[in-house]
Amino acid sequence: MSTRPSRKAVPAIAGGTPVRSRPLPFFRAAVDESDVAAVSDTLRSGWLTSGPKAVELEARLGAYLGTSNTIAVSSCSEAMLLCLKALGIGAGDEVITSPITFASTVHAILHNGATPVLADIETDTFGVDPAQVRRLVTPRTKALLPVHFGGQACRIEEIIAIGDKAGIPVVEDAAHSFGARVHDRQLGRFGRATTFSFYATKNLTSAEGGAITTEDDALAHRLRLLGYHGMSRDSWSRYSDQGSWYYEVQIPGYKCNLSDLHAALGLSQLAKIDTLLERRRAVAEGLSRALGGCGGIELPLEYPGNRHTWHLYVIRLRLEALRIGRDEFIRALRAENVGTSVHFIPIYRHPFFHPYLQAGSTFPKSEDYYARCISLPIFPDMTDDDVRDVGEAVTRIADHFRAS
Ligand SMILES: Cc1ncc(COP(=O)(O)O)c(C=O)c1O
Repeated sequence: MSTRPSRKAVPAIAGGTPVRSRPLPFFRAAVDESDVAAVSDTLRSGWLTSGPKAVELEARLGAYLGTSNTIAVSSCSEAMLLCLKALGIGAGDEVITSPITFASTVHAILHNGATPVLADIETDTFGVDPAQVRRLVTPRTKALLPVHFGGQACRIEEIIAIGDKAGIPVVEDAAHSFGARVHDRQLGRFGRATTFSFYATKNLTSAEGGAITTEDDALAHRLRLLGYHGMSRDSWSRYSDQGSWYYEVQIPGYKCNLSDLHAALGLSQLAKIDTLLERRRAVAEGLSRALGGCGGIELPLEYPGNRHTWHLYVIRLRLEALRIGRDEFIRALRAENVGTSVHFIPIYRHPFFHPYLQAGSTFPKSEDYYARCISLPIFPDMTDDDVRDVGEAVTRIADHFRAS
């Protein structure tokens, strides 16, 4: 794909000409005419909310992931909330998770009345460090909620072993990592439940949406009840040809169903998921080739045994080799017309979390990561020229601001 950048030019932020004349966004959804047709067909069908398309999406996701229960939901955020609720997590319970995640992972714990306990990350996968998790397990720990960051699995087999030893269920936040594997086994069948996101930027999108997988039939039944008002039957099974009007509300529930409009897009994207993931991999490999000779940064790696799905491509600056920090580097990339993002501001730095921070807790690996991380653009429709431009922009900035 891309070759190593050849030019040594002055970065735009220091008065040079930008690598690109037009901005490259951090992300653009890969939507084509087959997606438009799928959603249009559903719009014309007369059934818009959860119905045959949501049922079909669940079946096809299950076939792809090899899972026995697959429940389509409105988001991964709701999925995590439901899983913890269905497992009976509540006041007085502790749930261990990662500080390098989106806020909703922790909100799912708090909204169940439980206490989030953050375990520092390790830097092979940017997931929770199993040694830290082991240290933090107490009799109050009632679930582990590891995050599969950026498109690859965290050290899930070690986390599951910790959970099994302590008799604690593991719920996985696989929002970023649909299609990722560990030793050729798909994520979705390791823990008691796995939650996926189909948000617009994710590997597989339905614009908004998500899914829960579990091999536990009783848990699946409870999740379905909780996720649809606690009702014994959903609208589709009541109004379809074989349906009956009668239903019972068995428990107080939530409303987390995925509409057929969203499911139609999800189905259409799922039909080409392998191509989308292959293209992400090609872009990641192109970026790594283009940046291989750049001294001021560390490149992301695939952990041995993992199949990475490259939801994110996160470089880490070698701050000791540069005269600028992460924020200035991002400003310099913007001046080159290259979009970026930061995943994530560590949870303990957000105001909402301050009341829950345990005295004496420190997160040296997360802090180091946060000071140095930049998410570069990666999406299936990136062209080879886009990849070359990103390599050129990063190299140009790193070379210009190299510490002498
Ligand atoms: C790690 C992580 N978990 C959970 C979520 C929530 O996903 P959703 O937007 O589907 O609720 C996100 C969203 O970006 C995320 O990055």
